[in-house]
Amino acid sequence: MSEPDAETTAEHVLVVFCHPRDDSFGAQLLAEYTAGLAETGRTYEVADLYREKFDPVFHAGDYVQFEGGALSRRILDEQARIERADAIVIMSPLWWLGFPAMLKGWFDRVWSNGWAYEFANDPEGSLLPPRPYLILLTTGGSAGSFARRGYADGLDSLLRTGVLGWCGVSESSVVLLHDTGFHPATTREHLEFARALGSGPISDGSLTGDPARITVLNSPLRARNTEEPAMDAPAAIRRLCDAWIKQDNAAIARLFADEGVFTDPLHERPLIGPDDILATNQAAVDELADVRIELYSVLGTGARACAEGRMTATVVADGSVLDFEFTMIAETADGRITRLTEYFDTAPLRH
Ligand SMILES: Cc1cc2nc3c(=O)[nH]c(=O)nc-3n(C[C@H](O)[C@H](O)[C@H](O)COP(=O)(O)O)c2cc1C
Repeated sequence: MSEPDAETTAEHVLVVFCHPRDDSFGAQLLAEYTAGLAETGRTYEVADLYREKFDPVFHAGDYVQFEGGALSRRILDEQARIERADAIVIMSPLWWLGFPAMLKGWFDRVWSNGWAYEFANDPEGSLLPPRPYLILLTTGGSAGSFARRGYADGLDSLLRTGVLGWCGVSESSVVLLHDTGFHPATTREHLEFARALGSGPISDGSLTGDPARITVLNSPLRARNTEEPAMDAPAAIRRLCDAWIKQDNAAIARLFADEGVFTDPLHERPLIGPDDILATNQAAVDELADVRIELYSVLGTGARACAEGRMTATVVADGSVLDFEFTMIAETADGRITRLTEYFDTAPLRH
């Protein structure tokens, strides 16, 4: 356990807790997390939304925030709890890939215009003072499926950039504890992780967990309202390989321009554009597991590049191992792939 130091003892943490049942796994996690906080000498208070009977429904009266009117006492009290905290931790199960209605409604009503953000088309300034935020979510789904299906990336964009980032929060982590409720060993591992998390930094870039059961989303946020540099051809090749490794066909498809042409020896015809790739390449992605790609070299700059590498994977149907070398050529325009051609010997794929 880490020793309390001058910095951590000064901290007061607000833990916003959302779960309807007293005997939930979430309640156990809360107990472990707050025990971890206490070990470091931090003070904390828990906003227990269900037990405090928070009303999550955004009523007609809540619109006063856009009309210069006064917020209700209850909302002002919720905001005051946030204001007196040095760090905010939000703990909840993931329901339908988002916050439960109770927690969603807490954001709807408490994170008001003029307090959390300014109602403008693209607000520049943060209205919330800088402080770290951690969102700890339990999920029934596995880490693998969250990566493959793009849910983890989606939650990263929506929660860290879209919700917190919109209000100017730059220091945030989202931690997903996967496979909850299925195996006692996983339950124990998650509870231990929660305890260690409570006694460590609230949210920082070094936070990690066992990637097989825990997803940590904490990469630096892009500056708001700045365009990402357009993807060039070498970057396109690297991202394509990453998407194959994650077996994320949607991410593969998104790299291509509307008329982008994808050719490889496995498909009888060139695939044209993201929709065609999404529909036609999915079967090839689903056939494989444990995809690994080593890129030997990526040559070229700007709009054209070529690469050599090696791919290994397991064929799901019979457990056989594929192992083959490939080359590919990529062309890009306006940050998307206009043509990508892969060459490899298909003999190892015949089984
Ligand atoms: C209404 C509802 C929706 C859910 N939606 C999802 C979901 O979209 N993805 C997921 O991985 N798990 C989902 N789950 C599973 C919960 O995330 C999981 O049961 C919970 O995190 C376990 O913690 P608990 O025992 O403290 O409730 C859902 C559960 C419920 C009740």
